[in-house]
Amino acid sequence: MGAQPLIRVEKLQKHFPIRLGAFGERAVTVHALDDATFDIAEGETLSLVGESGCGKSTTGFAILNLHRPTAGRVVYQGRDIATLDEKAMRPIRRDLQIVFQDPYSTLNPRMTVGDAVGEPILFHGLCKRSELPHRIERLLADVGLPPRFAQRYPHELSGGQRQRVAIARALACQPKFIVCDEAISALDVSIQAQIINLLLDLQEKYGLTYLFIAHDLAVVRHISTRVGVMYLGRLAELGTRDQLFGEPLHPYTKALMSAVPEADPVAERNRHRQILEGDVPSPLNPPPGCRFHTRCPIAMAECRTIVPEWRDRGEGHFVACHAVPA
Ligand SMILES: Nc1ncnc2c1ncn2[C@@H]1O[C@H](COP(=O)(O)OP(=O)(O)O)[C@@H](O)[C@H]1O
Ligand code: SF4
Ligand SMILES: [Mg+2]
Repeated sequence: MGAQPLIRVEKLQKHFPIRLGAFGERAVTVHALDDATFDIAEGETLSLVGESGCGKSTTGFAILNLHRPTAGRVVYQGRDIATLDEKAMRPIRRDLQIVFQDPYSTLNPRMTVGDAVGEPILFHGLCKRSELPHRIERLLADVGLPPRFAQRYPHELSGGQRQRVAIARALACQPKFIVCDEAISALDVSIQAQIINLLLDLQEKYGLTYLFIAHDLAVVRHISTRVGVMYLGRLAELGTRDQLFGEPLHPYTKALMSAVPEADPVAERNRHRQILEGDVPSPLNPPPGCRFHTRCPIAMAECRTIVPEWRDRGEGHFVACHAVPA
């Protein structure tokens, strides 16, 4: 890992104004992401975990400026890219890519695999037309597909093959950073393992940095350098994989981690699964103070009014909780 972060995220916020009611008469705000501050180091895999709707995808989209952040900064190569318009973003887009859960959302059904993989190269003017077939062939080889796949259409491929094509397309512009947003979640378990290994091989080969969004904690434990835990639009905790799985500090992280089966049979027999009571509150009206206080087993009076500070407990282990000693 380099000393300089590849990306620095500072107090990043994304609120979605929406309208409710039969006639859209009620204007409300979805607090999808608030006050996220963290670095992403070059060459690392930083995973984001947390229940559905907690703001993981929003974080990925806001970092890439695919959703314009409401507030905060995203510093990439010394520049705040959060406020750039699409034209200014264009040269930077090459470096920052995303792979989604459902490759159908990125692959045009009427475009061959070769055209889909070649399109970003042409768009950014990265090679001569005459060199394109060779570039496409190399990209397909990178993701483990033979050259003949260039002539195929997305519907002729299996789910795993389609995801390989989506990865080849993301790789086409030689990016530095890829957001993998539930990129393996829809695949069969055996195929998931293949795609994870592919992502890890590509990371090593090209020095890629990943923001890996996932809900399968066993996978996250396998691939992550560091892990961030989100709850209702806020980061609860962030640290190395060993810190988060071995010595979680935040009550929400502890509950999440208690659901992960242990490999060691003795540890597994002694594992105490902690079930959280109640539902996640609405992001339209998140609880004041600590957003987790309505479900936290150790909530105190101050948790209901004072937002816990995001602080480093040492060795890069960040947590936001009043009950964790400084
Ligand atoms: N485009 C949007 N407009 C309005 N609300 C949105 C939009 N995208 C996401 N949200 C809301 O923001 C919150 C966070 O969503 P998301 O980031 O997709 O969560 P996750 O990826 O963790 O499941 C959710 O309440 C979701 O409904
Ligand atoms: S700040 Fe309070 S409510 Fe929030 S996690 Fe810590 S103890 Fe629980
Ligand atoms: Mg999501």
